[in-house]
Amino acid sequence: MDINQFQNRKQDHIRLALDEANQASVEFNQWSKVNLLHEALVDLNFSEVSLSSTILNQKEKTPFFISSMTAGHDSSAKINLSLAKACVKKSWFMGVGSQRKELSDNSLAKKSFKEWELIRAQVPDIKLLANIGVSQLISHPIEKIKSLVTSTNAKALIIHLNSLQEVLQIEGTPEFKNSTKAIENLCKSLKVPVIIKETGCGFSKKTLLNLYNLGVSVIDVAGLGGTHWGLIEGARAKQGSLQNQASQTFGSWGISTVQSLIWASEIKKNKKSFEYWASGGIKNGLDAAKALALGATAVGVAQPILKALQISEEQLLVKMNLLEYELKIALFCSGCKNIIELKDKLLLKSI
Ligand SMILES: Cc1cc2nc3c(=O)[nH]c(=O)nc-3n(C[C@H](O)[C@H](O)[C@H](O)COP(=O)(O)O)c2cc1C
Repeated sequence: MDINQFQNRKQDHIRLALDEANQASVEFNQWSKVNLLHEALVDLNFSEVSLSSTILNQKEKTPFFISSMTAGHDSSAKINLSLAKACVKKSWFMGVGSQRKELSDNSLAKKSFKEWELIRAQVPDIKLLANIGVSQLISHPIEKIKSLVTSTNAKALIIHLNSLQEVLQIEGTPEFKNSTKAIENLCKSLKVPVIIKETGCGFSKKTLLNLYNLGVSVIDVAGLGGTHWGLIEGARAKQGSLQNQASQTFGSWGISTVQSLIWASEIKKNKKSFEYWASGGIKNGLDAAKALALGATAVGVAQPILKALQISEEQLLVKMNLLEYELKIALFCSGCKNIIELKDKLLLKSI
């Protein structure tokens, strides 16, 4: 892998993800189809509202986590350190960006390991989720994949699925043959939970069920509604190139986060141990409340967090506080003391 090409790609991703033109258009974001029932006769104090959540079978203070973004290049260590410090302050989980660089044998791999050493030294209590793409899972020995969990001392390993991104990426590797078997094998041999996520295109009901049956611990739906990797890779490609043109055709490709969550909630009715998380286009605490009412146990945010951090570390904390404050308002005004009670307040318009 060309190191300069890798660095440039990561910088492009950050720059283009921050450009609102590469967010899914609001017409595909179905949050307006989900409502929570207002409770006029609230019989509790705002101070009693609790965000306490059960994630990966552990009690947590909040359902929020920062969704995987970046790792393994010149500016990622600084970004990840800021994210980690904020996560520890707020007791949020943090997904790390793809650890692909650590699988190679060059100097960047060593640099990537140092990134986690630096973070662990300064923020020892950080709860990290390791991350790698499914095409790397298929093409590397399982021991190498396990080392990604060790290097980050992670609570779980996320495998990301990103067919649209890889097929439209100029240097992409759209090689996904044997992904089902590779995921099944990983679930059998990894000591920490395996989380499967999309990257903005969501899941069908059949695929959610397939993955559950393979032994996956959690599915983070990461659906259509926010950052769109088809648009980002199209914008990176040369004007008028095949990738650049096709990305416009596929600019609304994907299954919305809302639809993915509805299907997940249908599966949950028969499979009580099925755990699913919500991400993809969560812009505020009210979106988060709706996702939790749809049965998600955790809620992930990527681009809005990066956007806040671009301004300052203080602004990042303001954004995190705002997300939690808005979620609490949704709970309070629905008359709910906690997230479990929110499930009875769901109103769905037909979609
Ligand atoms: C700059 C950037 C880099 C990303 N890199 C990764 C990655 O390495 N691995 C991954 O699983 N997801 C990655 N994602 C996808 C996010 O985790 C998330 O699934 C997606 O952006 C949708 O969430 P959002 O709408 O809140 O941005 C990245 C997102 C951003 C914004």
